[in-house]
Amino acid sequence: MHAVIRPDTVSPALPLDGSWRFQLLPAPEAPLAGRWAEIDVPGCWTVQDFDDIHGVNDLPQYTNIQMPWPELPPRVPAANPTGVFERDLDLPAEWAGRRIVLHIGAAESVLTATFNGTPVGIGKDSHLAGEFDVTDAARPGERNTVRLTVVKWSDATFIEDQDQWWHGGITRPVRLYATNPLHLADVQITADASGGLSVALSVRTTADGGILPSGWTVSGVLETASGPLEIAADQDFADACTASGRVSDFLGEARLNAAVPAVQPWSAEIPALYDLTVRLHHPDGTLADESRQRIGFRDVKIAGTDLLVNGVRVYIRGVNRHDFHPLTGRVVTPDDLRADLNLLKAYGFNAVRTSHYPPDPALLGLTDELGFYVVDEADIESHEHAHEIADDPRYLAAFTDRVSRMALRDKNHPSIIIWSLGNESDYGANHDAAAGWLRRYDPTRPIQYEGAIKDDEGHWDKPQTASDILCPMYASIEAITAHARSGRQTMPLIQCEYSHAMGNSNGTLAEYWQAIESTPGLQGGFIWEFWDHGILQRLDGKDGKAPGRPAGPAADPAAYADGVTAPGYRWAYGGDFGDTPNDGNFCADGVVFPDRTPKPAMAEHRELAAPVRLELTPEGEVRVTNHQHFRDLSWLTAQWRLEAGGTAPADLPDLAPGASAVIPLPPVAEALATLRVTSADGTLVCTPQLTLRPDDRDLLTRADAVGISSVSPIPLDDDGLLVHPLFASAPTLSVWRAPTDNDRWGGIAERWQAQGLDAVQRKLVSVERRAGRVAVLAEYTTDCAGTIRHEQVITPLVRADGLSGLLIEETAVLPDALTDVPRVGTVFETVPGLTTLDWYGHGPGETYPDRRASDPVGHHRSSVDALFTPYLRPQESGGRNAVRHFALAGPGVAGATIHLDAPRQVSVTRYRAADLAAAAHHDELVPRAACVVHLDAAHRGLGTASCGPDTLPRYLIGPGTYHWSWTLFPA
Ligand code: GAL
Ligand code: MG
Repeated sequence: MHAVIRPDTVSPALPLDGSWRFQLLPAPEAPLAGRWAEIDVPGCWTVQDFDDIHGVNDLPQYTNIQMPWPELPPRVPAANPTGVFERDLDLPAEWAGRRIVLHIGAAESVLTATFNGTPVGIGKDSHLAGEFDVTDAARPGERNTVRLTVVKWSDATFIEDQDQWWHGGITRPVRLYATNPLHLADVQITADASGGLSVALSVRTTADGGILPSGWTVSGVLETASGPLEIAADQDFADACTASGRVSDFLGEARLNAAVPAVQPWSAEIPALYDLTVRLHHPDGTLADESRQRIGFRDVKIAGTDLLVNGVRVYIRGVNRHDFHPLTGRVVTPDDLRADLNLLKAYGFNAVRTSHYPPDPALLGLTDELGFYVVDEADIESHEHAHEIADDPRYLAAFTDRVSRMALRDKNHPSIIIWSLGNESDYGANHDAAAGWLRRYDPTRPIQYEGAIKDDEGHWDKPQTASDILCPMYASIEAITAHARSGRQTMPLIQCEYSHAMGNSNGTLAEYWQAIESTPGLQGGFIWEFWDHGILQRLDGKDGKAPGRPAGPAADPAAYADGVTAPGYRWAYGGDFGDTPNDGNFCADGVVFPDRTPKPAMAEHRELAAPVRLELTPEGEVRVTNHQHFRDLSWLTAQWRLEAGGTAPADLPDLAPGASAVIPLPPVAEALATLRVTSADGTLVCTPQLTLRPDDRDLLTRADAVGISSVSPIPLDDDGLLVHPLFASAPTLSVWRAPTDNDRWGGIAERWQAQGLDAVQRKLVSVERRAGRVAVLAEYTTDCAGTIRHEQVITPLVRADGLSGLLIEETAVLPDALTDVPRVGTVFETVPGLTTLDWYGHGPGETYPDRRASDPVGHHRSSVDALFTPYLRPQESGGRNAVRHFALAGPGVAGATIHLDAPRQVSVTRYRAADLAAAAHHDELVPRAACVVHLDAAHRGLGTASCGPDTLPRYLIGPGTYHWSWTLFPA
């Protein structure tokens, strides 16, 4: 492994991607058949369509912690799918006399290679390249044959037990390249923020019996703003090497040093890169080899409990990212990678943890270029057998190999600021061995490893060998702030995983960031995770509903859009391919849908990362602050968004990072001041909002009602339910929501079900008519948590314009046993035909009580269908928080306007809670013609209990009395 990047002109490459001959064997020792299928490389055989000659039928399988089979380390099952890939290639005649290298980007998990029938090597890390010197086996100017055998399960599988789909195949590009026999073996660059540049070159030769010729030299050139800067070797290099030359595969070394004046340091905000070319010359001065890289000058340092980049304590707004694609399984293109990162940038992320293995190298080129702080993680996760393996000397070499090869490959990327020893592998001697190698090899970067941070009692203050960062996963706000305030914190605290994004989630993200930004020692974390790992699956059969094969890389591009699959497809999760054992939909836990459509949690993150902050001073002025670390505000434009509609100009002042200034308010004095901040290309960056005066629209607009109408008695049916032209189903009490993934996986939904909250029985107690109004008392019985008393007092109203409406005042009394219910509110269903919702409240996106920083309060409009969020497993979704009033309308139908007594959680969807709870996949949902409308007096927070803390106590709904009221008028 090395970090040499050769331009094609110096070292021509022969790409070997495309169609290969292929056979999938049931086991490595099974005989080959006489005929071959065809398959694409790179590609996973688990998702591609090919002629399965041996009937192996190896489909994707998803497990989290558990291994896919019961054998103990290092044993593997007898059934062991093995792909044999073969192809012919014409080697250019000019390659004669050159060193020829076969490069396989990644194969999972064991790779063996033969070249023209000669075995050339073996490799085991599924997420790093294998390179094999095939010079002796190759026949330039002739047709050659390469065969790659990829065995799916091996001893190495036990340390690749990451929580993701299991695949088999060659997942990154394959190529051959040729170099001069005398060649650069490696290039190691150190470039600090003050312009110090040092390049260590190692040189090897395979020619002349391995004797390094005397007189060879190296040179370097750095492209700077003021032209090319030649960099000289720091010693008489040729002499030094001759002196130490010896027979056989000699390794020579050289170092180039320079002090580069006036460098622009690299940071995630200003990712300044410089082109560096280093060259190796023959004794006669002609070019022997060349490596070109884009480098960045930056410092990473830990000072006390702060992680400093270029001396600045930067916030780490990170996400965990796997190599994933809904069609290919694991093969990603540079375009995919760029799209991932561009999306993350647009939503305020500045950091990526390459969970849980080194990524495609193209990703790191892009994180350098676009500006992301990267935690580069070694491909080690032994989750199910973590304890045994961490100290098992049989795995020692694999640990040090995986960590060292990652560092050897990736060391020159300025974006990598931290190395990670892997994930969820307990902690043992093998980790210390790997950390020891890494510390010596690269003293410029800190190391992190979550498994090492706790002592036996779970404390975070033990002395550290293997981690320089306190990088817990899913620690609560209370736990991180308590530690930061304890006086016992010794390292920067950056959570390696937090805010589990499964389904409708990421509740209390705002509270996390409030804590991080106000507590010294806390610096951020990496949300779990970027993708929902839903594989696109065909639905077959007569009814078009039978689970079929993965749609695969050749699928119709129209098979999905905006997070939703087209008819005939669905997003598959664990178990959907008949895979056992499996861990269900636990792989669908990202901030984007499988097609990279952002979920509402992304908008929440964007707002929390706002580079521009607003604050109301005690004098009533608006203060704006530049909340970035390195940049000014010149890349941003802002406008005031007026409540009445339209915009007013806003000038962002010239502010250095951290600086603030007072800015004038828009000429129209409104209750809310909302600043819409965009980047030069118009991309929304944030919409900070201030409440300038109390919002009197919070109050129910009874002023509109001139009085109580006594024209006719309010119609009720025999059960005391309101009869009204809007309702297909009358307003009743609702105390249940379709469980979110957090509710389910956190065990909360189970309690609700045990209490029978999903099926409360309504019993009319009394109907009392008094002076035109009617009071309807009902009881809702639960299974074992007692009875909920619910009263509706309905009053007929007449407005000044003569329009009649209703005031509905409701009270619910929850018995003591109901300590944690999902909601208390009203539900009704409308007559068909209502298609549009206008509302005043948080929007336009989906918001919940503990996830509502994203969408400022204002007037919004959406089609009813678009309000719904199609989480992979259907669940409570589509809510809008703090709604004051809303109107439902549809072509040719009498709509309605509803005003609420206070900002309330409202949802308008095409699904009953029971519809959502009953469906396991989005495509199973059948939209109703009605709108199902929920007005909640209280709605439980979302939290992140599927993996990590539940919501905070203040977002829970317990026993007691709840009052809410609303008016209903024709639209
Ligand atoms: C973490 C783990 C991740 C993933 C996550 C749950 O413990 O590191 O790989 O399993 O939990 O989605
Ligand atoms: Mg795991």
